[in-house]
Amino acid sequence: MSTAYGKDEIAALQEKAKRHLWLHFTRMSSYADSDVPVIVRGEGQYVYDQYGKRYLDGLAGLFVSQIGHGRTEVAEAASRQAKELAYFPLWSYAHPQAIELADRLAALAPGDLNRVFFTTSGSEAVESAWKLAKQYFKTIGQPSRYKVLSRTIAYHGTSMGALAVTGLPAIKEPFEPLPPGGVRVPNTNFYRAPSFVADDLNAFGVWAADEIERAIQREGEDSVAAVFLEPVQNSGGCFPPPPGYFQRVREICDKYGVLMVSDEVICAFGRLGYYFGSERYGYKPDIITFAKGVTSGYAPLGGMLVTDRLMEPFTHGNHSEHKTHHITEPGVGERLGANTFLHGVTFAGHPVSCAVAMANLDVFEKEDLLGNVRANEGAFRAALEKLYDLPIVGDVRGAGYFYGIELVKDKSTRETFDDDESERLLRGFLSHALFDAGLICRADDRGDPVIQLSPPLTCTQEHFDQMEQILRSVLTEAWTKI
Ligand SMILES: Cc1ncc(COP(=O)(O)O)c(C=O)c1O
Repeated sequence: MSTAYGKDEIAALQEKAKRHLWLHFTRMSSYADSDVPVIVRGEGQYVYDQYGKRYLDGLAGLFVSQIGHGRTEVAEAASRQAKELAYFPLWSYAHPQAIELADRLAALAPGDLNRVFFTTSGSEAVESAWKLAKQYFKTIGQPSRYKVLSRTIAYHGTSMGALAVTGLPAIKEPFEPLPPGGVRVPNTNFYRAPSFVADDLNAFGVWAADEIERAIQREGEDSVAAVFLEPVQNSGGCFPPPPGYFQRVREICDKYGVLMVSDEVICAFGRLGYYFGSERYGYKPDIITFAKGVTSGYAPLGGMLVTDRLMEPFTHGNHSEHKTHHITEPGVGERLGANTFLHGVTFAGHPVSCAVAMANLDVFEKEDLLGNVRANEGAFRAALEKLYDLPIVGDVRGAGYFYGIELVKDKSTRETFDDDESERLLRGFLSHALFDAGLICRADDRGDPVIQLSPPLTCTQEHFDQMEQILRSVLTEAWTKI
């Protein structure tokens, strides 16, 4: 099927895009003299632009399209649900799709993470987790706990609360002051480990985990509510945890009564070969936040899974014993009080999104996508490691179908690029050149410059080879431009 649009249609779309559309995290001026890239269709591991040109979707859109594009059975599930019941809120009411999906997610999640609170996005999931932590501690009589620890350069979302958890100063600065309580601890970038642990991955892991304990002590033991960590940290370029890191963090959290939140907005739903990243690394968080891959992007959905222990104070309570009041929007007669989680989002757990998530998980099962990732992740890594023969490739790191390639100016010293060079290299050349060469991936300099890959979970050797070949040719050219 041809996807090419006509010349006039292409020109009209460009004009409207440039006049009216505001792209996220995008320097809009960069499109003053060039076309806004427009993707019009997807099929399997590929997407197509308005000219009909094909691109390998090496980023699964934005770490989202786990099952790949163009799955009619998932689209049909959405259509069926929209016809049956397009919308009803989860405020006081339930609908079968949210019930069935909550039951299914609870069965898939590790340990006693049995309760699902839906949202529409990852930021809302993170926001919800922090709010739950704060209200939970107030409810159980520890009202001074409100702070959250997270790692440097980690991205946890953009709403004000989630941004306060995020560890990227540059995207926070325009919005300061943010809600108080965000505290940074070191990330697990072993390639750039401090010299006293640079030769010993285990010692590095112990140090990085123990820094969480030191931060809790520094901030005041009774003031810390939660630690937010991704199984493999995305921002900065795929930092996997050193061996034993999460086990040590779990011990620290238990010792100080701090909640451990596994932010799996990227790492859940097969990205690391398991339904949940925490499963891969063998730890049991108190809360898992998720979004993205739960629907593979066929509709928006996020949420948090919480343990029975965290839910417990919200499962009982005599209304008459607590301050209650009525709200009229959007349900009627909810009685709110100390035993009600005072939080909600109109579109959270949308029936169409939940139906889509169920159909998405059916595809996971039918095609054993977790098995595909586990069987092929070694081949993916091997394909990317071939790039080590290029002078610009400093580090290849990641797990599952989630990899970062760190670019360096000098391999032997690990010297990175200065801001100007990084700007010229990433924005001035690499982003466009990779796209022009037919690969969607991310050239990112929120930490040191990296290229990130996170392809659909259906990818196999032919796709790994294609990624390697495109990266090889573009990175070879990039080196001549430094
Ligand atoms: C780990 C993590 N948390 C939270 C978010 C925010 O998710 P969303 O963009 O759906 O709000 C992201 C987005 O990439 C993420 O990677």
